[in-house]
Amino acid sequence: MPSLTQRLGLRLPIVLAPMAGGISTPELVAAVGNAGGLGSLGAAYLTPAQIGEAGAAVRRLTQEPFAVNLFAPQSTSEPTAPQVERAVAELAPFHADLGLPPPALPPQTSGDFEAQLDAALEVCPAVLSFTFGRLETRHLEALRVRGILAIGTATGLEEARQLEADGVDSIVLQGGAAVGHRGGWSEDELADTLALTRAAAQSVRVPLIAAGGLMTAADVRAVLDAGASLTQCGTAFLRATEAGTSAPYRAALAAAKPGDTVLTRAFSGRTARGLRNAVTAGIGHPLPYPQQNALTRQMRAAGAAAGRADVLSLWAGEGVAQGREGTAAEILAGLWP
Ligand SMILES: Cc1cc2nc3c(=O)[nH]c(=O)nc-3n(C[C@H](O)[C@H](O)[C@H](O)COP(=O)(O)O)c2cc1C
Repeated sequence: MPSLTQRLGLRLPIVLAPMAGGISTPELVAAVGNAGGLGSLGAAYLTPAQIGEAGAAVRRLTQEPFAVNLFAPQSTSEPTAPQVERAVAELAPFHADLGLPPPALPPQTSGDFEAQLDAALEVCPAVLSFTFGRLETRHLEALRVRGILAIGTATGLEEARQLEADGVDSIVLQGGAAVGHRGGWSEDELADTLALTRAAAQSVRVPLIAAGGLMTAADVRAVLDAGASLTQCGTAFLRATEAGTSAPYRAALAAAKPGDTVLTRAFSGRTARGLRNAVTAGIGHPLPYPQQNALTRQMRAAGAAAGRADVLSLWAGEGVAQGREGTAAEILAGLWP
């Protein structure tokens, strides 16, 4: 059985983390692929048409394999009117400060997963990775018949076992240090990446991809020695030249010190790791995901346009202080000299 690295034709054991919201641009995905890693396009917030365009843009820049990443469908609960009122009231001062009227919840807040998956199948990348849950058998079968490898995300051993039973080709093990949204669907242990990798390597047979807090060549080497086939790095690429990271976000990352990250539901309603700011401190009653994500969208867009890091979701992992600027190829060379 060829290894995952061989099946994907990789020269480096490093996957660029998919970063939805415009960070993992086609330029960044292609640059990582051209340097020998696996680039991942974070497509969860894209419409089906945008997924097709982004896939075509990657193909114009590279002939190397790449991954498209989506959020697995989740059961969502509708918030009550008083919950919406309270969440709106909490955000209103931030809106007033930006010269915006109070936020309003748009009627439809969740995307159409089936249509997104159809668009991804059309792009036909080497890999379809997903987070936040499990895919149905028919989804996995649609990937299999097209020769697309399916990679799920687990935050603990039990989730990894469930994904293996579902028949995925590989599993991203997301340790607690990882940036951005927690990818699991059951109780999150916020596991140490190295310990989780070691434990999973003993109880799961599919190839494993370790993620969370991997910022140096020594970190990468350690998880491979612990049994991972590949590593997935996000924070390490946030300040890459080719990344879509906004100027105020880049400045906040450059100034970050160890211990500056928190787990917060303030921006999206789903727990995610990022830098502390006025919004993480000031929002105590967010709506569930995806409603809170929709409710904060206007604030985040206005904040980015005004260069205001205090109202942006500044996703960052615990390794943020070890991040550096540079091209994707330079960052990869630091992770795998
Ligand atoms: C801005 C941003 C967006 C992210 N979006 C996604 C996503 O859409 N899908 C996903 O599977 N992971 C996403 N992640 C998380 C990464 O896949 C991964 O778990 C994490 O980057 C690994 O930890 P590290 O940052 O410490 O390297 C995102 C990370 C960042 C920084």
